This record gives sequence, structure tokens and C-alpha cells, in this order.
Amino acid sequence: MAYSGPFQYGDRVQLTDTKRRHYTVVLQEGGKFHSHKGIIEHDDIAGRDEGSVVTSTLGSDFLIFRHLMVDHVLSMPRGAAVIYPKDAAQILVEGDFFMGARVLEAGAGSGALSMSLLRAVGPEGRVFSYEVRDDHLEYAVDNVREYFGEQPEWWTPQLGDLADVTVEDLGGPVDRVILDMLEPWEHLAKVRDLLIPGGVFMTYVATVPQLMKVMEGIRELQCFTEPRAWESLVREWRVEGLATRPEHRMNAHTAFLIMTRRLADGVTPPPPKRKARR
Ligand SMILES: C[S@@+](CC[C@H](N)C(=O)[O-])C[C@H]1O[C@@H](n2cnc3c(N)ncnc32)[C@H](O)[C@@H]1O
Repeated sequence: MAYSGPFQYGDRVQLTDTKRRHYTVVLQEGGKFHSHKGIIEHDDIAGRDEGSVVTSTLGSDFLIFRHLMVDHVLSMPRGAAVIYPKDAAQILVEGDFFMGARVLEAGAGSGALSMSLLRAVGPEGRVFSYEVRDDHLEYAVDNVREYFGEQPEWWTPQLGDLADVTVEDLGGPVDRVILDMLEPWEHLAKVRDLLIPGGVFMTYVATVPQLMKVMEGIRELQCFTEPRAWESLVREWRVEGLATRPEHRMNAHTAFLIMTRRLADGVTPPPPKRKARR
């Protein structure tokens, strides 16, 4: 799939009408987009630059752009709840998912995070995405293929339980592990066994009891650094002259993020030194 340049047949095109409603078409020679606002020939779009305006047979204007990854993630079919773009962004940067990294992800769910991970590590890296439910894995594979136009060669989507994964399955320890599942605390020893010393482990949990269980589990294992926990709140703003203000509504909670790093074999975390209280 092309990410830039004039539109080609096979591209996914997002048409936006004057009421900011989006419609998506895949460009085909001789194809037509029908709406109550008239018809647009796909041949009128092919060859145009992104950001152009096309006019339907009934005189309505539509802006044309390629789908961004966020558009795809928010509109694609899903079997399980996806990691939202604001949290995926935190994961990529705070977890330092570098180009060429070898990454283990579980569960793959609908494949939303898989896409961000695949783009971050690139063809020199590898992403292993384990998913215990075959119907969810099917969503993940379809969604990733649809976004990339084909299945990326550096992606290994795998039906299976994280509990059964071995270092041999992954061809050696991985640089990064990210878990998005109900009970990640059940798999902390497994993460330790699969992660390289210095590697980053992140997990994403929705509720406070889950957060507490993961934090306590990480501390008990004594093979990780003191974990960090946080959440990200994103507030949109309406910017309109003197009426400029934050939007009334926002997504107040998605999930908490937890991050820690694996210590070298045989090392336990140095005890924290706190100032004595008076
Ligand atoms: C919330 S979804 C993941 C969504 C995904 N991160 C995304 O952005 O699309 C959680 C998934 O974890 C899977 N899962 C739960 N336990 C698992 C395990 N032990 N091994 C592999 N997958 C597991 C579930 O079947 C479910 O599909």
C-alpha cells in the first residue's frame, strides 16, 4: 500500500463531506462510489493528489485523503476492545519500541496495537503476536492485512496461550514484551523467562485491582526494576475565537500503563532508600 503520492488503484481512500462525515472506498478501475449526494467515479480520483476535492454528479464536494492508521484502527471491525491511539503512542515511546526490536505481544485481540508495533520495529524487527482465541486472531490478521495491503513479513501472528510460549518458539529472548489481557499477573514469570536483560515489559490494565495485582506481582518476583504506573488523559480543545475552551466531553479513562525492565540473571532489585520520617 502506498502511504503518499497521487492516488493509485488499490488505495483505500477516505472521502469527507462538508458535514465532516467519512466514507471509505478502495479504488478500482471503473468503480463508482454511490451516496445520497450523488456518484463519484473512482477514475476521477486515481492520479489526483491527496487533499484534493472531487465533486459528485449531484454537485456535492468531498475531500479525499488516504486513511491514517488511527482512522483504520477506530473504524475497523473488532472482536476485542482495542488499545486506543493515545495509549499506543505512550507504549511506543515510553516502552522504547525501537527499529529492529524483537517484540512479543499478547493478546493480539483485534490487531490494533500490532499495527503500531509493526510500524515501529520495521522490516528489520519482528513482532510475535499471540492470541488464545481463533476468532480474535482472525480479526487481527484481517485488520493488519487490510491496513498494510498484505501480511508484513516481519509479523508472526500465532494462535496460542502465552503460558505455553518458550524462548525456542521465539528464536531467542525478545527485547520488549507488551501484554494486554485480563490477568497479566498470571504470566510474570513467563515474561521474565522470555525477556532479555534490560528488556522492557509493559502491560495495559483497565481497573485498579488489576493494576495493584500486577505491581505487587512484579515486586514479588524480584527480577524487575521498581515498576512505574500511569495513565494518559487527552483533552481536545475547541478553538473558535473568544469561545475557545476545552471540549465538554472526553474519554476520561481507558486503562493504566505499567512499565518495568528486566534485571540481569541472579540480580535482585537494590532496596529503595527512603529518608527516615521524623
Ligand atoms: C483486549 S484484547 C487485546 C486487544 C489488542 N491489544 C488490540 O489493540 O487490538 C485481549 C486479548 O487477549 C487475549 N488473551 C487473553 N489471555 C491470553 C493468553 N493467556 N494468551 C494469549 N492471548 C490471551 C484475549 O482472547 C483477547 O483477545
